[in-house]
Amino acid sequence: MGSHRLRCLSSPACLLFAFAVLLAIMPGLAAARTRRYTFNVTMATVTRLCVTKSIPTVNGRFPGPKVVVREGDRLVVKVHNNINNNVTFHWHGVRQLRSGWADGPSYITQCPIRPGQSYAYDFRVVGQRGTLWWHAHFSWLRATLYGALVILPPRGVGYPFPKPYREVPLMIGEWFNADPEAVIRQAMQTGGGPNVSDAYTFNGLPGPTYNCSANDTFKLKVKPGRTYMLRLINAALNDELFFAVANHTLTVVQADANYVKPFAATTLVISPGQTMDVLLTAATNPSSPAFAIAVAPYTNTVGTFDNTTANAVLEYAPQRAAVLRGIPAPALPLYNDTGAVANFSANFRSLTSAQYPERVPQSVDRRFFFAVGLGVDPCQSRVNGTCQGPNGTRFAASMNNVSFTMPKTSLLQAHYQRRYSGVLKANFPTAPPRPFNYTGTPPNNTFVSHGTRVVPLKFNTTVEVVMQDTSILGAESHPLHLHGYDFYVVGQGFGNYDANNDTAKYNLVDPVQRNTISVPTAGWVAIRFVADNPGVWIMHCHLDVHLSWGLAMAWLVNDGPLPNQKLPPPPSDIPRC
Ligand code: C2O
Repeated sequence: MGSHRLRCLSSPACLLFAFAVLLAIMPGLAAARTRRYTFNVTMATVTRLCVTKSIPTVNGRFPGPKVVVREGDRLVVKVHNNINNNVTFHWHGVRQLRSGWADGPSYITQCPIRPGQSYAYDFRVVGQRGTLWWHAHFSWLRATLYGALVILPPRGVGYPFPKPYREVPLMIGEWFNADPEAVIRQAMQTGGGPNVSDAYTFNGLPGPTYNCSANDTFKLKVKPGRTYMLRLINAALNDELFFAVANHTLTVVQADANYVKPFAATTLVISPGQTMDVLLTAATNPSSPAFAIAVAPYTNTVGTFDNTTANAVLEYAPQRAAVLRGIPAPALPLYNDTGAVANFSANFRSLTSAQYPERVPQSVDRRFFFAVGLGVDPCQSRVNGTCQGPNGTRFAASMNNVSFTMPKTSLLQAHYQRRYSGVLKANFPTAPPRPFNYTGTPPNNTFVSHGTRVVPLKFNTTVEVVMQDTSILGAESHPLHLHGYDFYVVGQGFGNYDANNDTAKYNLVDPVQRNTISVPTAGWVAIRFVADNPGVWIMHCHLDVHLSWGLAMAWLVNDGPLPNQKLPPPPSDIPRC
């Protein structure tokens, strides 16, 4: 051996060879990189729908910058808050394994970053690849503070589908001519529903269906015969959306950064918080030089909603702004077409391959049944304000009749210091306090209770949660998002969940894994996850108005016995309340 090495050192050819070998294995060695970003939160002036206003932005951009990492990378985002408002950022869908301090929901895993302060979100992206996104997690600031978070597979690892010619993030947002903070402030004051948005946007642009917006149209230029991957993100505040491209079929390959068995669809449904990667192959002989890409709301709310349609453009040849209203547009389902939604959601199956196996929990340690929906507070509420909700009450929302009270300090901090008194109660109900016919005639008393109540879980508990929509104040779909975990969607259906019959119909073979799932209108959904990530994890409706009304709870997952099963101490720059 020794003489070999010596001989190599003295031979230029051998040295060159050794160097080449080193270069070849370098990318593997250097695979896990640290990616650093700086987020300067600043006000910037933008004009949409002929309204010019100053909005919170990241680095002056709207939507904010695209963050790109590779699976396994460490991501460090240094946030400087230069606006006149508290802010935090959430990396929606990132599991945050033992990095709960970087999760971001205000008063859950951290105190807000106050004006003038900074905080560095520092975490690794492990075992996930695909499209996620980041957004502010304080009040309604995410209306303008959001962007794509793209997780590429490790270097040298491809997609389990043919590599697309191009990949394009397509973020669907919701534009308010008014200040969204004023909108929610007013709603919380009056107790009534908030004013609705004025437009939906594609990558921040409303497009030709709105007043004076034809020049603010997102255009996806395509070449005939090429395949494009759209990284769809529903960043809207309060609306589930139908999505379609005129004359083009889409192939769904990924949901919430999990590969799915590819399936074709002409109309998609995407809920706030959800992401979906879809393949679109451009026609070789398009029948028109351009086609509309459209979104419109899906809702069964009894309240008002933004019932507009927004268009982007799939462009084979350059189009003048003046003609954009006339290009072929897709026919979207009616706004309340729950059947179309159910048909679409039934398509999702996880890919489940040798390379991407699934470990679906076949049995569970603890079962929970959560009734999810709206409710009201009586007028003599402890909250200051008027009573412009239903029948002179104030709107509220709850799970198991508990409307979540936002604490004044970080729950994770309280948990880490084991100082729970006065901050939280570990007694969130495992079932509704009074069972009723959830999807039938609502009970007479629709008042909610209030509290910061959590479910404590032992490390590694296998959990099943059935979430049941209620018809109190009208059955409607609720996109429930769980922080810190992906969960398997093992079953869903309409009407009241029936443990005896419905459990037998679960898919325990290849259920889709997601971080956000809609509880169907007048229906239920069952999810399973293994509580292997210590910390405090909020689960909430991703319609911001419902979150503001208290549609949230939190799981408190205790440390496991091993050193690598414990939540590390908080970073030194964690903001204080
Ligand atoms: Cu995308 Cu708690 O949120």
